[in-house]
Amino acid sequence: MWTTAQRRRLTETPYADALERHAGAGIANFHALPIGSLSHAPDPEVSVHAEQLRRLFGSRMLATQVTLGSPELDSFFRAHRSLARSRRLTAEAFGADETHYVTTGTTGANQIALEALRVGGARVLVDRSMHQSIHFALDRLGAEVHYAPTTPADAEHGVITALRRARAEGVAYDVVVIGVSAYDGALVQMRRFLSALHELTADTGCRVLVDEAWTAIHAFHPALRRNAAVPCIREALDDHPDWPASFLVTQSTHKSMLALRQGSYVHVLGSASVRADVHAAVYRVHTTSPSLPIVASLDVARAHAVAEGEALVERALVLADRIRDLARSTPGLDVHQPVPALGGAYALDPMKVHVDLGSPERAHVVRRELFDEYGIFVSRQDGATLLFTVHVGVTPEQVDVLAEGIEAICGTGRTVAAGALDSRYVIAYPPGIPLQVPGEQLAAPPELRGGEELYSTF
Ligand SMILES: Cc1ncc(COP(=O)(O)O)c(C=O)c1O
Repeated sequence: MWTTAQRRRLTETPYADALERHAGAGIANFHALPIGSLSHAPDPEVSVHAEQLRRLFGSRMLATQVTLGSPELDSFFRAHRSLARSRRLTAEAFGADETHYVTTGTTGANQIALEALRVGGARVLVDRSMHQSIHFALDRLGAEVHYAPTTPADAEHGVITALRRARAEGVAYDVVVIGVSAYDGALVQMRRFLSALHELTADTGCRVLVDEAWTAIHAFHPALRRNAAVPCIREALDDHPDWPASFLVTQSTHKSMLALRQGSYVHVLGSASVRADVHAAVYRVHTTSPSLPIVASLDVARAHAVAEGEALVERALVLADRIRDLARSTPGLDVHQPVPALGGAYALDPMKVHVDLGSPERAHVVRRELFDEYGIFVSRQDGATLLFTVHVGVTPEQVDVLAEGIEAICGTGRTVAAGALDSRYVIAYPPGIPLQVPGEQLAAPPELRGGEELYSTF
């Protein structure tokens, strides 16, 4: 995927190196962040609570709690040294024109992106199954929201259908918002989507926010990269140099790569004016106290993915297949396929495995027992189905324990039965995707599924 020289460059970690040097220097801070001083406070002055913080986070993590101001650490909002270089390397690794780092999750990244796309008062075509951060930001910014029809299986994407209809009626949308990688493993077929988008907007152009929350790591595996958002958009823009289109792609880096929680990338592919608007939006919307450990982890996450991403994704794919085999060979269990494997607007993320337990009650009990008895957290129950996300941190040993657990719980013949127009959003948490959006008619209260909050965390 990369030449040796490129690989060497893309595995540099300029910002993380700078933070490491800075954090180890024991600098007395006359600005803010007293917690940082705990890393080198003399022992007699360390209270019980300070000691608790040291136990929880370790001296090194506390030492990274530094404020901005060092030239070496660069300015978050006007980066021109280590952070600027780090972001350029990340943009190059994905194939973007520019990449921004966000330390307030993709919730924050989506708010920045919509601010940059100037959605206030604009006609915005929205994929209905977007994350709540999009719906709320569009509402707050005063966008004129038009929801695309739901995408039927084996048909073109609802966003394309809506664009086609609008074009036939001679109307246009200012901005398009689409989710391309959902928590449940449904991936939009990017090349198909982009080719249809180009066909419909080749002359008018378009400004698009693509939420690729779950699958940032796909860009680092040669097979999965073929459907990854940024490389596919780069290819489409290169193939059609006259297409006046701009794309912002947000990724919850922490969900699939080695970033600390809340680490998020915003990739920009487009005109100089859109790039300037994203800079301004980061300045206006991002917290003025970015977490430097998160920024450093976004630097390392890219280097790590370039160095080891392919091998780790390959391992995850093998482990995911093992879980599928396990499900198929255990009586009463099967593999559930939530979207058609081929054809239509969606593909299936091979790193996610849906195991059908036969009944919601059985799924509930198996999920609980896996957690209580085996220390295995299953990210989601949807009816009779449990969702196993095989991210690159999952080890073969953990899958061994899962196999043991499934065998013990399910394989021995044990029975595991368990005892008007609305203006609101109805959101089952997780995963933060509204079941209902404003303007929809409810025949009856929506059934809030999603299993036990006790086990659910995103
Ligand atoms: C599709 C999608 N977009 C955005 C987000 C928000 O990401 P974060 O939790 O990093 O704020 C999520 C979180 O689950 C998501 O599923």
